[in-house]
Amino acid sequence: MRELLGCVMLLAWVTRVVRGEDPYLTEPPDYIKQCKIADKNFINCSTQSIQQLFDKLNDGIPGLTSIKSFDPFYLNRIRISQGNSNAINLKVELANVKIIGFGHTKVLESIVFKKDYSWKTTFTLPVMKLIGDYSLLGRILLIPLNGRGQVFLDAENMTVTMHTKTRLYTKGDFTFYNVTNCRVDFKIDGLKSYFSNLFNGNKQLEDSTNKFFNDNWRMLADALYTVITQTIEDILLDVLKKIFHFIPANYFVSDIPTPEQLYGKAKPKPK
Ligand SMILES: *[C@@H]1O[C@H](CO)[C@@H](O)[C@H](O)[C@H]1NC(C)=O
Ligand SMILES: *[C@@H]1O[C@H](CO)[C@@H](O)[C@H](O)[C@H]1NC(C)=O
Ligand SMILES: *[C@@H]1O[C@H](CO)[C@@H](O)[C@H](O)[C@H]1NC(C)=O
Repeated sequence: MRELLGCVMLLAWVTRVVRGEDPYLTEPPDYIKQCKIADKNFINCSTQSIQQLFDKLNDGIPGLTSIKSFDPFYLNRIRISQGNSNAINLKVELANVKIIGFGHTKVLESIVFKKDYSWKTTFTLPVMKLIGDYSLLGRILLIPLNGRGQVFLDAENMTVTMHTKTRLYTKGDFTFYNVTNCRVDFKIDGLKSYFSNLFNGNKQLEDSTNKFFNDNWRMLADALYTVITQTIEDILLDVLKKIFHFIPANYFVSDIPTPEQLYGKAKPKPK
C-alpha cells in the first residue's frame, strides 16, 4: 500500500517536471501566458508573458532551485577595466555585491525576432540599489583615485534595453532556448552614490569627492557605465540561462520552430 501510494505520488510529480541532473517542465505552468509569434498582437502578448515571468521570479519558480534569490541578487565578483582616454581610465573591482530591485521590474516591451529567435526586451526598474566592496584605480571625472572600501549606488527610474542572443535546441519533446549572450543599455533619471574610504581615511577629501559625484551624477553614471551594464548583464545572463533550460520555449512561443526547422538539418560530416 505504501509503495502504491509512493508510486502514485511520484507519477503525479513526474508529469510536471522531468527530474535528474537537468530538470525541466513538461506541462505549461499557469504563470506564463503562451503566445503565437504568427499573431498580430504577439508583442503585446509576449510583454505580458515576460512580466508574469518576472513577477513569478520574485517568489521563486517552483522546481527551479538553482536561482537562490532574485531580489536581492548576490554576485561574488565583477572586474572591469575600461577606457584609455583621459576622461575614463578606470579599473574597478566589486565584490560581495548585493543588488536590490529586480523584483519590481516592469516590462515595457518584449520583442522576439522570427529570423533567429533573438530578443529585444525593454523594462524599467523603479528601484535599483547596489551595495558591495569596491576597489578603484584610475580617474573618475579627472579625479585620481586609488581606494578600496564600500560602495553604495542608488539609480532612479532605470530603463534597460536588453538584447539577448539564443540558440534553439531540443530536449525531450520540446524546443528550448539556449541563452548565449545578453547585452544591455540603460538610461537613468538620477544616481545617488557613496564610496567609503576613497582616500585611505582622508575624511574631508572623501566627503567633498562624494558630494562632487552626487552633484555631477550624470558624469559619474557615464564614467561607471560599463561597470553598471556589466553587472546587470552578469545577473540577467545567469538567471535567463537557468530559466530557459528549465522552461520549454514552446510555453512562451507556442508556434516556435524546432532547431531543424530554423537552422536546417545538420550537414553530414565530410569524410
Ligand atoms: C495589450 O493588450 C491588453 C489586453 O488585451 C490591452 O489592454 C492593451 O491596450 C494592449 N496594448 C497594446 C499596446 O496594444
Ligand atoms: C549552449 O551554448 C553554449 C555555448 O554558448 C554551449 O557550450 C552549450 O553546450 C549549449 N547548451 C545546450 C544545451 O545546447
Ligand atoms: C521617476 O519616474 C516617475 C514616474 O514616471 C516620476 O514621477 C519621477 O519624477 C521620476 N524620478 C526622477 C528622479 O526623475
